[in-house]
Amino acid sequence: MFLNQRRNALCADAMPVTIISRHAGMDAALLARAENMAERLLVLSGRSKFQVNIVFTGDEELQQLNQHYRSRPEPTNVLSFPFMEGAAASLAKLPIKELGDIIISVDRAEAETLLFGESLHRRLSWLMVHGLLHLLGYDHEKSAEDADIMYAKEQELLRQTDTFRRTKMAHLAINVDHVATIRQARGITEPDPVTAAAICELAGAEGIVVHLREDRRHIQDRDVRILRETVQTKLNLEMGAAREIIAIALDIVPDMVTLVPEKRAELTTEGGLDIVGQKKKLAQTVARMNKSNIPVSLFIDPDLEQVKASLDIGATFVELHTGTYADAADEKERDRQFELIRVAAEEAHLLGLRVNAGHGLNYTNTAAIAALDCIEELSIGHAIISRAVFSGLDKAVRDMRAIIERASYY
Ligand code: PXP
Repeated sequence: MFLNQRRNALCADAMPVTIISRHAGMDAALLARAENMAERLLVLSGRSKFQVNIVFTGDEELQQLNQHYRSRPEPTNVLSFPFMEGAAASLAKLPIKELGDIIISVDRAEAETLLFGESLHRRLSWLMVHGLLHLLGYDHEKSAEDADIMYAKEQELLRQTDTFRRTKMAHLAINVDHVATIRQARGITEPDPVTAAAICELAGAEGIVVHLREDRRHIQDRDVRILRETVQTKLNLEMGAAREIIAIALDIVPDMVTLVPEKRAELTTEGGLDIVGQKKKLAQTVARMNKSNIPVSLFIDPDLEQVKASLDIGATFVELHTGTYADAADEKERDRQFELIRVAAEEAHLLGLRVNAGHGLNYTNTAAIAALDCIEELSIGHAIISRAVFSGLDKAVRDMRAIIERASYY
């Protein structure tokens, strides 16, 4: 039985990695981070156009496979099954070249975390590296020399994944709340944020964001439910950690949620979450989401303590708050705020968190943030919807994407 199967669900132009989980210990955070790590490994090993399947399962299945294919009675931590042996795979004239399957025992990995004093994510990463190298023809069982070569390659690849940088442009996720704000001003049915989301996607947006506020000032429950059905890229539900909204998220199961602090009187989100100060409560919410296969992003100020605390409570992503950078009164302060974002993004990335950024980004201040190549995605609303009033939504999205694309590559 597949407990969960993810096929590039979190990344529209992701590398061809298919992750299959048959182990209850693999929650959404571990799966999303494993998928990200597998994509890095494909790029770093020069196989970005290849397909790899990774199965997370338990000792029982590994034991059966080990017995069946290698006549060994004991379970093992990882087994690799190449689609084709050796050079044949590279030469095959297939549109997507299959590397093969990597089967990992999460039971073994969990036991080995104690042995090696590593996190489960780190241990699974090592097992993926090991399995991938077997698919590429490395074999430590052939001779002592082969073992040394494979070991050195493993270390090198793992080191490179730590400092791996985005190889594609940052993604643009568009917040369509303000389309709903206009609708609610009249209390009628137009303009519809669902239509806006479709136009954004047609213009190239890689994700749609909506904030279901407790006071329902703009986005309504009906919007989120329809968007769940219609969004073709990725639906990111922004929300406060309130009981009623958590229940809706668990029912709808968006592609991810972004937890934000929410105050009734605020005009917009005013700052990042204090993860350090609310660790216990937020950890519970993150765990509930992860258990329901919903990866969580935490909206935080660019502060290293908040970054570390986000990792501690099981987040997959952090979204770095760029509002203070955007609102800086002068250039000196903007540079200072930018530096905080740069350092926090680097640190989060190094810890294995995936990094997004947003708030207050517009057509003049976005390029600098998009150029930070460990930031995966930018979440932008107000500036794009404002410009759409004059230029049309399609053009407003394409213009912002062009800025991000230029900044990503130069
Ligand atoms: N990210 C988060 C967490 C937000 O709360 C918002 C505002 O809803 C945004 C990004 C988008 O901000 P803006 O509308 O200023 O682009």
